[in-house]
Amino acid sequence: MHNQLVPRGRFISVEGVDGAGKSTQLSWIDRWLTSEKIAHIVTREPGGTPLGEKLRALLLNEPMHLETEALLMFASRREHLAGIIEPALARGEWVLCDRFSDATYAYQGGGRGLPKEKFEALERWVQDRGGEMIQPDLTLLFDVPPEVSQARIAKSRELDRFEREAASFHERVRNAYLERARAAPHRFRIVNAARPIEVIQQELHVLLSGWAHETLA
Ligand SMILES: Nc1ncnc2c1ncn2[C@@H]1O[C@H](COP(=O)(O)OP(=O)(O)OP(=O)(O)O)[C@@H](O)[C@H]1O
Ligand SMILES: [Mg+2]
Repeated sequence: MHNQLVPRGRFISVEGVDGAGKSTQLSWIDRWLTSEKIAHIVTREPGGTPLGEKLRALLLNEPMHLETEALLMFASRREHLAGIIEPALARGEWVLCDRFSDATYAYQGGGRGLPKEKFEALERWVQDRGGEMIQPDLTLLFDVPPEVSQARIAKSRELDRFEREAASFHERVRNAYLERARAAPHRFRIVNAARPIEVIQQELHVLLSGWAHETLA
């Protein structure tokens, strides 16, 4: 049973276009949290649970109707919240998540053009727990011009269904992310991800130390 004396953990999401450097920086943040002795888990979307990982494989590889794509994203998210994220936060652990709902707004909304009212309805269904909307406490948006991020991933591996989209798609995804950030400035921090890895890490160090200090005060 949940011990009421354990303070709820903090929820951090990492966002940005494909190849922005999310996974690279997420593993640095993971090490930083460990060095700060902050109990945490690392997870990702779509995925994070055994069923979610199966949905991820379908989402990244199978052609499908764009509304099916949005519904599967939220189905995976429902499973993830119930099975992984909420229990971890209740145990007092921090959750470090590679993408969350902002990615659905950016990709299925900005990228594919599905109206945002659809996501708002699904978000209420999946993330509203007794009147409280579960959202990340902090969202790090790694912002980079798509031509820079595309050049990075073209070198590193075979591209998935989203990564193969045209440059205009990635530009719309980027703009939709920036719009989400403007709408929720209290939880978003925009990080210029076009800079070298170590420079970004120095900024993350300052940003996270300050934020953790503030949020735990
Ligand atoms: N700041 C950076 N400068 C140059 N190269 C970088 C930078 N950050 C990451 N990379 C390189 O770019 C590639 C993509 O990085 P990474 O996998 O971290 O991106 P991602 O945002 O997680 O991508 P995806 O959305 O596809 O998972 C990797 O080869 C990585 O080493
Ligand atoms: Mg990644």
